[in-house]
Amino acid sequence: MESKGRFITFEGGEGTGKSTQIKLLSEFLEKKGIDVITSKEPGGTEVGQDLRRILVTGDKDKMDAVAEALLYYADRRIHVTKKIWPAIEQGQWVLSDRFADSTVAYQYYGYNKRVPYQTLENLYKLAVGDFKPDLTILLDIDPKIGLSRSLAKAGHMAVKETRHESRELEFHNNLRAGYLEMAKKEPDRFVVFAADKTIEALHNEIVACIEERFNLK
Ligand SMILES: Nc1ncnc2c1ncn2[C@@H]1O[C@H](COP(=O)(O)OP(=O)(O)O)[C@@H](O)[C@H]1O
Ligand SMILES: [Mg+2]
Repeated sequence: MESKGRFITFEGGEGTGKSTQIKLLSEFLEKKGIDVITSKEPGGTEVGQDLRRILVTGDKDKMDAVAEALLYYADRRIHVTKKIWPAIEQGQWVLSDRFADSTVAYQYYGYNKRVPYQTLENLYKLAVGDFKPDLTILLDIDPKIGLSRSLAKAGHMAVKETRHESRELEFHNNLRAGYLEMAKKEPDRFVVFAADKTIEALHNEIVACIEERFNLK
């Protein structure tokens, strides 16, 4: 097996199937003999777990978009320096459930551009530099469907990570449109998948994309 590490991110709104698909893709890659790890934002590191609790639980208005952007970037800085870069350095493939595009989608588009785009770009440069995902898989679905999936799942969990889910539908429609705009701007990095199909059908599409892009056939 070639030893070059890769960085693949999964993006999309709530309940689009990111966590489900990342697990299936990592199992697929493992079977191919690839050294793969999965991670997530927020919360890919120990410190990040504490930030995750602060960011995704509790009242939606307990902090604003600016505070969120700063905390997400603190989480991201720890994530890249302590986990993602060392793993890639060792030749591992890293699959991340969300990355910087989520901050643009939520804190910029979701909140109707309340945080200046340039500020988010500057934070990216500061925390991540020139590093970018090799591929970003964007899962796209009508937020009404995604939110109902997500809230049904949360109903079975002890800790309710539903702070963002509790925002109004307009927020979720904004962030969906924002993601699609971002994908259009960087067509080489993003691949958009319609997520309103079975888990298996979506997995097969993602596998076909990965096989082609990374020459795994
Ligand atoms: N294609 C799908 N069709 C129907 N339900 C799905 C599909 N993908 C995921 N789910 C279910 O929807 C819920 C949310 O999926 P999840 O992967 O956690 O989404 P995300 O991580 O994007 O929020 C889970 O209960 C999951 O089992
Ligand atoms: Mg998830």
